[in-house]
Amino acid sequence: MSQNIHDDKILILDFGSQYTQLIARRVREAGVYCEIHHYGIPAEDFLAFNPRGIILSGSPESANLEDSPRVPDYILNAGLPILGICYGMQTVSQQLGGQVEGSSKSEFGYARIEIPSGSVLLSDLEHSIQQGNVFLHDVWMSHGDKVTQVPEGFKVIASTESAPIAAIADESRKIYCLQFHPEVTHTKSGQEILNRFVHEICQCGRLWTPANIIEDAIVKIQQQVGTDKVLLGLSGGVDSSVVAALLHRAIGEQLTCVFVDNGLLRLHEGDQVMETFANNMGVKVIRVDAEDEFLGKLAGEADPEAKRKIIGNTFIDVFDREASTLGDVNWLAQGTIYPDVIESAGSKHGTAHVIKSHHNVGGLPDDMNMSLVEPLRELFKDEVRNIGIALGLPHDMIYRHPFPGPGLGVRILGEVKKEYCDILRQADAIFMEELHRADWYQKVSQAFVVFLPVKSVGVVGDARRYSYVLAVRAVETIDFMTARWAHLPYDLLETVSNRIINEIRDVSRVTYDISSKPPATIEWE
Ligand code: XMP
Repeated sequence: MSQNIHDDKILILDFGSQYTQLIARRVREAGVYCEIHHYGIPAEDFLAFNPRGIILSGSPESANLEDSPRVPDYILNAGLPILGICYGMQTVSQQLGGQVEGSSKSEFGYARIEIPSGSVLLSDLEHSIQQGNVFLHDVWMSHGDKVTQVPEGFKVIASTESAPIAAIADESRKIYCLQFHPEVTHTKSGQEILNRFVHEICQCGRLWTPANIIEDAIVKIQQQVGTDKVLLGLSGGVDSSVVAALLHRAIGEQLTCVFVDNGLLRLHEGDQVMETFANNMGVKVIRVDAEDEFLGKLAGEADPEAKRKIIGNTFIDVFDREASTLGDVNWLAQGTIYPDVIESAGSKHGTAHVIKSHHNVGGLPDDMNMSLVEPLRELFKDEVRNIGIALGLPHDMIYRHPFPGPGLGVRILGEVKKEYCDILRQADAIFMEELHRADWYQKVSQAFVVFLPVKSVGVVGDARRYSYVLAVRAVETIDFMTARWAHLPYDLLETVSNRIINEIRDVSRVTYDISSKPPATIEWE
């Protein structure tokens, strides 16, 4: 790697659009590093960031009000290429002397834009259709206001019937504005448009690749920790697994992982983690068998919040104990990823510096006296997965559904008992096996089984059976904030139900959860 992978970078100014992170992910997919900052980023931070170009996000705001959010003058006049998207287009137009008006009807959904030839950004896109000397292209619109008068120096580079000014450009100043959203996949050549902006217009190279990211992270980790020892709470989830693999490659023996088996894990989970990291990769992993401790503390507790607290606190106790036994450890590694960083910055009202660090392992005590090493802080989840694969982690581990920190503790309603955990583990394994077999595992975002501590009557052979009820749940979601119950095929559900009831004698009945979020949550507790 001859060049610093952060040399060519794009600044994304966030005006509050629901699509801002998507813009960033697309820019990264183009092989270019970018960061999201609040639109009011202070001048000194902007200068220090030193981007090759700027992208302005959309916004729920209206651009033609007195106190509408604006692009700071030091950014607008910096002489750098700018791409304004939706609100970004409207505010640039307004700020440079054009006009924006509220529209009586908002435009939402597909629109076919007409692009005259000769536009660096939009002409002759792969998915456009040429008609005479114009190109037709389907894009995704989502806006109320629109530009009605183009600022001086700009020309129209795309139009639709209802929005004659759908995209504008001042090629001499390299300022481009789109009313539509190139970041969403509905805009067929959206990625190509963003590629052109970052590569051709901003002249950024394709430095942001998994191999380069790994190489860069390794050097940084080595510089950061020197010859010190590093401790990592390994859960077996994607983020902590990738951190483990990355740190192991960077500092080898200096890394010690602690894997806490709390008795609330999925079938063979502990063995798999040990197999992958300790046996195959040679990572130093301490497996702490803390099942009795966790289940002992949970005994008699039925309240969901109290259970979560007990699990979280017990985790801290166990981890703390292991850390002090090890002694002489200066660094605590964490799997904080970029969306956590953005969220923390957002909750601080968009100031440029991020202060709060997420404690992915469940909130570690402040008095541990260790500094943090967080090698995934700049990465989106899909990038974490890509580097995990590049580091040689098993595909199944990297693409596994998310699993909550409190584990089966929130999937056993009411009091947690070992007997219930064992039933649930078996049922969950059957469900996963059948999802994989039917090729449905990757089509749903999360799937699991829930243990209901009620008994129902069944009949097996000639015998009456009076045993537990399980609920099977599978959801589809993009962000886990909202979710739809997955419409799994009846045949698959039938197989899952039959197998669970036949193979686990303590279960008499299986139900399928058809609740979406909201109003239900994904987990039952
Ligand atoms: P809910 O149930 O709130 O879940 O709709 C949304 C997503 O978050 C996961 N989840 C957790 N993850 N610790 C975690 O690490 C937790 O305490 C926790 N609770 C819920 C849940 O599995 C789903 O993916």
